[in-house]
Amino acid sequence: MFVLGNHSSDFDMAETSRFLVTGAKGCIGAWIIKNLVGQGAAPWVFDVDEKSHRLEALLSPDQMDQIHFIRGDIRRTDDVDRTVGDHGITHILHLAALQVPACAANPPLGAEVNVVGTLNVFEAARRRRDTVKYIVYASSAAALGPEEFYGGMQVGEHAALRPSTHYGAFKQCNEENARIYFETGGISSCGLRPWAVYGAGRDQGMTSAPTKAIKSVMLDRPYTIHFTGRFDMQYVDDVARIFLRCAEARPSGAHVYSLRGAVIQMDDFINALEQVRPGAHRLVHVDGEQLPVAPDLDDSALVRDVGEIPRTPLPEGIRETLRIFEGLQRAGRLDTSDLSS
Ligand SMILES: NC(=O)c1ccc[n+]([C@@H]2O[C@H](COP(=O)([O-])OP(=O)(O)OC[C@H]3O[C@@H](n4cnc5c(N)ncnc54)[C@H](O)[C@@H]3O)[C@@H](O)[C@H]2O)c1
Repeated sequence: MFVLGNHSSDFDMAETSRFLVTGAKGCIGAWIIKNLVGQGAAPWVFDVDEKSHRLEALLSPDQMDQIHFIRGDIRRTDDVDRTVGDHGITHILHLAALQVPACAANPPLGAEVNVVGTLNVFEAARRRRDTVKYIVYASSAAALGPEEFYGGMQVGEHAALRPSTHYGAFKQCNEENARIYFETGGISSCGLRPWAVYGAGRDQGMTSAPTKAIKSVMLDRPYTIHFTGRFDMQYVDDVARIFLRCAEARPSGAHVYSLRGAVIQMDDFINALEQVRPGAHRLVHVDGEQLPVAPDLDDSALVRDVGEIPRTPLPEGIRETLRIFEGLQRAGRLDTSDLSS
């Protein structure tokens, strides 16, 4: 097994595969790169951002030297196509996107990045089908409806979608386009639907608040989380490894899988943080409503198709996140600019 296990194919996969990760300077992408580099691969990073602060926080300078950087805009068909063609890419992990607040502020731009950008990835794979073996792309739990839409029941593999945001509607559109690429052109892919990903590097987007609360508590600063109720926290390294597991397993067809981490109430998160770092109760405040995304998702289809997946317990994920933040702070490299947003 390439990423998770000790199988002898680890080396072959890292040696023979050429990974392109779009949006790899973002939170989840940076952790995917960290895992790939850790396995000896030399991946291609495709991102519009000039800065690499999340990657630099996770990787050593030597590891950074292992990465091929391509500055490109996912909205531009040629940028994507040329990158895939010029470098003989075999696996595309597509994460480049604007998040919920940015899509709400400018829906046409959101559609260009999130929908046209995803079409560009699939088009490149269609044109380069001799080399591209598989696409794993980030969908989102936000493609689903609110908890009430499912009568409070756990949401299964084939549940109807009823997104509450433009962002969720764009992700739904991507899932449908992926299906059509398979049905009309045989392009296999898998879309993953994370919920609230947390961990070092999670510094933007609606559900980044728990990670910002962890950072604030470490700094002994107050922080208010502006949503409450039931939600699902998924540790970023687990999510990154699931992307890679899917790239390795390459289930044929147009698959979409929900992810599942710790399905909890907001109070449970604050209690877990208090347990790991006493003082959290005093510093972390909560207001707002439950988010309009069903929190209780069944991930058995993912496990059925790609095997058992990593599930870091919440206290361990919080502890690991604190450890990384503390290390960055000691090195004078902790970015706190996200705490004001
Ligand atoms: N973080 C979560 O909790 C979560 C939950 C569900 C789904 N997702 C999805 O997972 C993916 C990654 O999430 P994340 O938290 O790492 O996001 P992020 O915002 O940290 O990173 C997104 C990256 O995409 C890049 N990008 C934006 N526009 C681009 C463009 N036009 N061209 C090229 N690159 C561009 C950004 O520069 C950034 O590096 C996204 O598709 C997101 O919608 C994330």
